[in-house]
Amino acid sequence: MRISYLECTRCGEHLSADRPQNVCPKDGGVLYVRYDLASLKGKLRPENLSGRVASMWRYAEVLPDADPVTLGEGFTPMLPSPCGGGALPRQDGAEPRHHTSREHANVFIKDEGLNPTGSFKARGMSAAVTMARHYGLKKLAAPSAGNAGGALAAYAAAAGIEAHIFMPKDVPVANRMECDYYGAHVTLVDGLISDCGRMVAERKDKEGWFDVSTLKEPFRVEGKKTMGYEVAEQLDWKLPQGIIYPTGGGVGMIGMWKAFDEMEELGWIGSERPKMITVQAAGCAPIVRALEAGKSTSEMWAGAATFAAGLRVPKAYGDYLILDILNKSQGTAVAATDEEILAALRHWASVEGVFAAPEGAASLVAYQKLRASGFFNAEDKVVLFNTGSAYKYLDMIEAQEEEARPEPPTAGNIGGIIGPY
Ligand SMILES: Cc1ncc(COP(=O)(O)O)c(C=O)c1O
Ligand SMILES: [Zn+2]
Repeated sequence: MRISYLECTRCGEHLSADRPQNVCPKDGGVLYVRYDLASLKGKLRPENLSGRVASMWRYAEVLPDADPVTLGEGFTPMLPSPCGGGALPRQDGAEPRHHTSREHANVFIKDEGLNPTGSFKARGMSAAVTMARHYGLKKLAAPSAGNAGGALAAYAAAAGIEAHIFMPKDVPVANRMECDYYGAHVTLVDGLISDCGRMVAERKDKEGWFDVSTLKEPFRVEGKKTMGYEVAEQLDWKLPQGIIYPTGGGVGMIGMWKAFDEMEELGWIGSERPKMITVQAAGCAPIVRALEAGKSTSEMWAGAATFAAGLRVPKAYGDYLILDILNKSQGTAVAATDEEILAALRHWASVEGVFAAPEGAASLVAYQKLRASGFFNAEDKVVLFNTGSAYKYLDMIEAQEEEARPEPPTAGNIGGIIGPY
């Protein structure tokens, strides 16, 4: 749909979408895309969607009116989880092997690992690169914890646009390789995503790059918001009681919340909202810390470390938006240790057949903790986001396994069978 204007989330200033924009020039606020949804109300109904393309572009009326750069992103499976998202561990320590009926499941895994480039970052980059091409931009730049870089590189390749990507030198091998193969210009940085972001900011003007960093342009949110539309559509337009979302920069959470407001304006849903839950790694949990302290913004997390690479974001640019959503939705924020994440990853794989990215597996840890604390009960419908595929993290997962292995290898298993795995 034609964009009415871009709106600053801090001061409410309106900016034109006729040319590329980054953030609010007055206060650096994140910009939201606004459409004339009132004119769509009653004309576009949920039933109009049936039979449309099985990608995020099925929601074309609520996305920018431009020729999409698409690789088939979105409309990922909403998998009922028969053992309740991974039943709590049994008292005897044995793995619970379900099975209750899939039909009666009220815990769902939204499997974003099936997106092009193996993560939900594809959605945001499909939208951002679509608009970059629409505006005639030729060079894009972004810092990345890994997957956003891979997605940017792929969509830029598909659009014939240059991509300049800065990522920590210890990102998963898959992220480095995909960027290389997609033809992006990659700089590996001895530091974190925050250091990468600074490099983009320092060089972009001189180099003529348009900055597509997380929340520093308005369209990645537009792509990610389609997850909110899909949650509603795939659950028959009844939102769940809870959504658990592995939060780094928080674009998915911010996007879904925007989608819910838009759907209400369209008359597709009522005013009820899910409790929005942030899960972060215990080794980098600035949002958890800020929420616990009752703050409206977060502090830079020192010494961020976790094998869930996408959660290694020491300070999110949109922290004020994330914390506002957690409060408004009466949600919460939970931290998961790398050990807990690894156990959850193996559990989901072994009982659900879902080989999740560590960030996604963290959602299961959060769900288990929130069930144990009574925050959610067994009847609550909860959607757990698996934001990526484990196939992009094989090196990280293997290294984490090594770290977690209780005994060092002995002479007896060198040169013979390496096992049990
Ligand atoms: C697999 C995965 N999950 C979650 C995240 C965090 O995403 P967001 O920045 O939208 O919070 C990332 C970010 O890199 C990621 O790659
Ligand atoms: Zn502003």
